[in-house]
Amino acid sequence: MSIKYTPEPFRIKMVEMIKMTTPQERLQKIKDANFNLFSLASEDVYIDLLTDSGTGAMSHEQWSAMFVGDEAYAGGRSYRKLLKAGTDVFGYDYIQPVHQGRAAEKILMPLLLGKGKFAISNMHFDTTRAHVILSGGRPIDNIVPEGKKPNIRSKFKGNMDITRLEELIEEKGAENIGVIIQTITNNSAGGQPVSMKNMREVYEIGQKHNITVCIDAARFAENAYFIKRDEEEFKNWSIPDIVKKTFSYGDVFTMSAKKDFNVNMGGMLAVKDKSVNAALIQNIKASCINFEGFYTYGGLSGRDLEAMAVGIYQYMEEDYLAYRIGQMEYLAARLDAAGVVYQSPVGGHGVYIDAKAMFPHIPYKEFPGQVLAVELYKEAGIRSCDIGSYMIGNDPDTNEQIESEFEFTRLAIPRQVYTQSHFDVMADALIAIKERASEIKRGYKIKWEPPILRHFQAELEPIE
Ligand code: F0G
Repeated sequence: MSIKYTPEPFRIKMVEMIKMTTPQERLQKIKDANFNLFSLASEDVYIDLLTDSGTGAMSHEQWSAMFVGDEAYAGGRSYRKLLKAGTDVFGYDYIQPVHQGRAAEKILMPLLLGKGKFAISNMHFDTTRAHVILSGGRPIDNIVPEGKKPNIRSKFKGNMDITRLEELIEEKGAENIGVIIQTITNNSAGGQPVSMKNMREVYEIGQKHNITVCIDAARFAENAYFIKRDEEEFKNWSIPDIVKKTFSYGDVFTMSAKKDFNVNMGGMLAVKDKSVNAALIQNIKASCINFEGFYTYGGLSGRDLEAMAVGIYQYMEEDYLAYRIGQMEYLAARLDAAGVVYQSPVGGHGVYIDAKAMFPHIPYKEFPGQVLAVELYKEAGIRSCDIGSYMIGNDPDTNEQIESEFEFTRLAIPRQVYTQSHFDVMADALIAIKERASEIKRGYKIKWEPPILRHFQAELEPIE
């Protein structure tokens, strides 16, 4: 059976050379990095799939817009251009640029949460989880049951579990829920989409109990593509119309623009209704001035704001989105043919390999997702990351290792960067590792770890 690769809707105008290392070199490099892929030098990586965040190739329209950036400290022209685009696309009254997604979280979470308060999400991304905890609150993940089963192919596996959401509000008391967060797409569950129906239902529950609904909107355009493809009611809608509708089911949004605006740096924090949330907007501006910079630049250069204002529109193009999701589907199809298990059907920005299925004999405390990530580097110089127990870390109250719902190794795909032959390298490497998986007997233990977001910095050693 031939597996089809969706052709690129662009041509290449600038390139960056990359080089392959030898297996011996890679063994030494990963050892020197304490088996933490974040500690590798990027020149020692052949295909870098650590993240799709800020790693894309921008369009020539974005690059050229950067030359007309207004670098004024206050009231810049580029800021107003971004505001105009942001309010046009998302329909929100107040748009605050910030330097990246976690800056929006850092500003917003303390304004909504505190000691004794809970955040309920279809799944918190790791920085979101960290900012909920840092604000004194506690994160609760609440994804639909099928989302937890990589083998079950069903649509919108990123959805919030509605029944459980009502129960949680009842159990904890509505006054103790500081925020409900819909992460679109659901990154930690495999870039899985959230349906419009689920967005609507969650928003109605938020309204009924007077709880703020926040959209963590990093991959809003990819999510809209899945809604158009898989939700009957929207099959004839344009992507921009789907996006506008999606955002109508939130009160605020935080966004890392490094994903679906395809910029190297940038983020947003936005409030839908300025008449209802005037005080919140004042507090956001004040925090932004403290942490990020004056509220008309939010820690960014004027040129970054320009690239964002172009990217907002550009990556909602359907040909682009079909090609983008098509890349994931190509890799997934090659894995299907070889029996490599991944979160299926494949999501928006990467392929999440089920490391638990590949290494059933390695327990969560030895981090199977990290085992596969290290093997991928050794095998082919591919850098990926663990999205599992190694990433999730320890319980903030008991300090015990949390067992993650998943043990994934994520191959996150940068936008407009890699070609079909790179995808074949990825598939071949995964298949080769699967063939020798039973020879890899043990995982890793932690030599040193920081108290929060440990996977970025921890030092590991193999268990002999
Ligand atoms: N929310 C989601 C859903 C994300 O995926 C990310 C980042 C953030 C928030 C934080 O944004 O990095 O701009 O500060 N995700 C990247 C990733 C890092 O690799 O998945 P940021």
